[in-house]
Amino acid sequence: MQSPTVETMRWRDGRLEMIDQRILPLAFEYVSADSAASVAAAIRDMVVRGAPAIGVAAAYGVALEALRMRHMLPEVFATAMNHGFGLLAASRPTAVNLFWALDRMRRAWEACGIGASQSAIAQRLLAEAHEMLAEDIRINRAMGAHGAALLPDGARVLTHCNAGALATAGHGTALGVFRSAVEMGKKISVIADETRPFLQGARLTAWEMVQEKIPVTLIADNMSGHLMSRGEIDAVVVGTDRVAANGDVANKIGTYMVAVLAARHNIPFYVACPLSTIDLTLATGADIPIEERHPDEVKGFRDCRWAPEGVQIRNPAFDVTPAELVTGLITEKGVVDNATLVRGGLAQWLKACS
Ligand code: MRU
Repeated sequence: MQSPTVETMRWRDGRLEMIDQRILPLAFEYVSADSAASVAAAIRDMVVRGAPAIGVAAAYGVALEALRMRHMLPEVFATAMNHGFGLLAASRPTAVNLFWALDRMRRAWEACGIGASQSAIAQRLLAEAHEMLAEDIRINRAMGAHGAALLPDGARVLTHCNAGALATAGHGTALGVFRSAVEMGKKISVIADETRPFLQGARLTAWEMVQEKIPVTLIADNMSGHLMSRGEIDAVVVGTDRVAANGDVANKIGTYMVAVLAARHNIPFYVACPLSTIDLTLATGADIPIEERHPDEVKGFRDCRWAPEGVQIRNPAFDVTPAELVTGLITEKGVVDNATLVRGGLAQWLKACS
């Protein structure tokens, strides 16, 4: 397997190191975690973010907790582990990959059996986390190949937020499609929405594309309609944090606006979505929990404030794009087309490809 160009997280000397995405691109530093609590804090504080990356980091959080507590009495070990699972589950609500990863880690723990030593459990959980990291990159590369085939040579492609290597274990979902298209020899160029208020597009997507020398143009979020109306955007590809059974897609706040504009201008709107992001337990997007973040993120950025004290603020971090606006869901198993989504055929499609 090709090694990822950006090592979003890595295992070093018994700790999980994560690129600090709060300070990119001004500084490049790793933050290190040695417990479930410190990984949960890193997820909550956006050191690590993006649905698949949150899932893999949480898996390491569970493994770290087992390693840290392995010499304790069995009751103490079990209590610490369950507490760790709880902290990680409470870190962020929208990305279903977090809960998918925690379920998988719990199953791996249970599969060790009653007689297993705590050291053996810890090693098993660490192996599972390593496997999830490697698997995520494999999945992104498969998704990239399916998605790249949809983009015409020379396409100018808009993306929102950061669904890149930084949002995953490597390669990325939406940006993975761009990387794969370039690897296939297609000359694409990327238009990155800045993505207010946390600026994942301006800081992270722009940084990744510049690092990779993929042509990228940064725009403020309110400029995409203008560019679409002038025929300057050929396709949209975004990532997602959770897809409901009816094909409704939750992604970074502002994605819904982009989808509506794309429909207005007959521009294909694709969502890159690993199967671990599909949540068949939720009937529609209305059931997806939407994270509300701190008002300070809207009042300004870092130390700079531009809104007056006393103003009321809303800060929903995600929105839901109805399935009817999604041209195709790009998964590692292939593309689910709009007709399948709209007739409620997602579950059946998944069954057929499993
Ligand atoms: O709040 P964030 O930065 O975690 O939001 C990330 C996104 O909305 C991404 O588009 C999504 O997680 C898909 S990442 C492959």
